[in-house]
Amino acid sequence: MPLVLVILGRQGSGKGTQAALLSKRYGVVHISTGDMLRASVAAGTELGLRAKAVIDAGNLVGDDIMIGIVDERLSADDIGVHGVVLDGFPRTTAQADALAEILGQSGPDLAINLDVPIAEVTERMLARGRDDDTEEAISRRLELYEAETAPLLAWFETRGCLAVVDGLGTEGEVLARISAAIDALP
Ligand code: AP5
Ligand code: MG
Repeated sequence: MPLVLVILGRQGSGKGTQAALLSKRYGVVHISTGDMLRASVAAGTELGLRAKAVIDAGNLVGDDIMIGIVDERLSADDIGVHGVVLDGFPRTTAQADALAEILGQSGPDLAINLDVPIAEVTERMLARGRDDDTEEAISRRLELYEAETAPLLAWFETRGCLAVVDGLGTEGEVLARISAAIDALP
């Protein structure tokens, strides 16, 4: 069975950055729900038109929509061949339950939580300046992270597949820590 990874962490913690590096190192397919939504916005699809306001305000797109998108993407042939690193999904308990159902018995091999303090992620996002990196949207996103996404850490820990990794340091240092956790898998 190819590797199934989930990358968790606050907004701005480096999920996208590290998922891209993991995709290169382990050959897994990088699936970012945020990138998929932004592509829909850029393409002007119906989903994109509806999602733009939600994203820019820092709110979460509905579970049903997100679960549908990820379920469809994970059923494509490349995932079964190369494995996957999921970036930005799951983000709610409903999404985690849906993922468990999609993956079945096997579940993810490892969920990596990138641990970065609020002050640091806020600074990183303000420096990046994406459309949803306004002070207002950032504080809304971080609020939703605590309420909706942080509880997933316990969800993955209960299933015995959580690795907490210090997300401070250079990209290379963080990658080395994550890789050590992956390489220690049985
Ligand atoms: P999404 O695109 O997933 O955004 P996010 O969760 O807010 O996270 P970011 O992409 O901002 O941060 P990141 O952790 O990927 O960090 P990055 O590598 O970029 O989602 C956007 C929106 O889409 C959501 O708010 C929601 O509306 C919607 N959405 C998406 N998925 C959803 C879902 N499942 N359910 C519902 N709604 C959903 O790094 C951040 C910055 O730091 C970069 O500039 C980077 O260069 C820099 N950096 C990275 N690593 C380091 C380092 N080690 N040191 C210094 N700087 C670093
Ligand atoms: Mg990202």
